[in-house]
Amino acid sequence: MSIALFYGTTTGNTGDVAEKVQQHLDDIELFDVADSPLEIVNNYQQIIFAIPTWDYGEVQEDWQEVWDSVDELDFSGKTVAFIGLGDQYGYAEWFLDAMGMLHDKVVAKGATIVGHWPVGGYEFDESKALTPDKKFFIGLGIDDDCQNELSEERIEQWCQQVSLEFE
Ligand SMILES: Cc1cc2nc3c(=O)[nH]c(=O)nc-3n(C[C@H](O)[C@H](O)[C@H](O)COP(=O)(O)O)c2cc1C
Repeated sequence: MSIALFYGTTTGNTGDVAEKVQQHLDDIELFDVADSPLEIVNNYQQIIFAIPTWDYGEVQEDWQEVWDSVDELDFSGKTVAFIGLGDQYGYAEWFLDAMGMLHDKVVAKGATIVGHWPVGGYEFDESKALTPDKKFFIGLGIDDDCQNELSEERIEQWCQQVSLEFE
């Protein structure tokens, strides 16, 4: 079954991550939310949402444009995984917040979530993207500003994990 990956990107990092994810997962299509309607979600059972956090805990601008329409989608019967981009040293109080905010909306509309990722190896003060026990992010955390050297391996490992969890 094919996977749809929706991303928004301002300076290109999340777009680059989306392309790397495409190299590691079979049968996956990429959609930039700036020019693809979110209703495409209705054609897929397996979805990845990739979202950077901007401006002290805010949602990236293209995601902001489609933010309200997320609430109109029905995610029941669908499996969703998240990728968040952020800067853990520069914005330690808001690290990956937008990923957590999007997660909460999608969960409220009935999605099953996969792709939790351990918080070990990151340094930050607060994040809205944590599981209740705070041991995991609710999706993959990528920090191309401070830990660019770790991104490739994190993406590869996470893709292996979600390819099993999506089945
Ligand atoms: C002005 C500014 C504000 C930012 N605010 C946050 C933030 O609140 N939380 C966070 O985790 N990252 C924050 N970041 C880091 C971005 O999320 C990070 O650079 C990301 O890789 C950008 O992704 P993009 O190139 O796909 O837009 C901020 C970056 C800038 C330049």
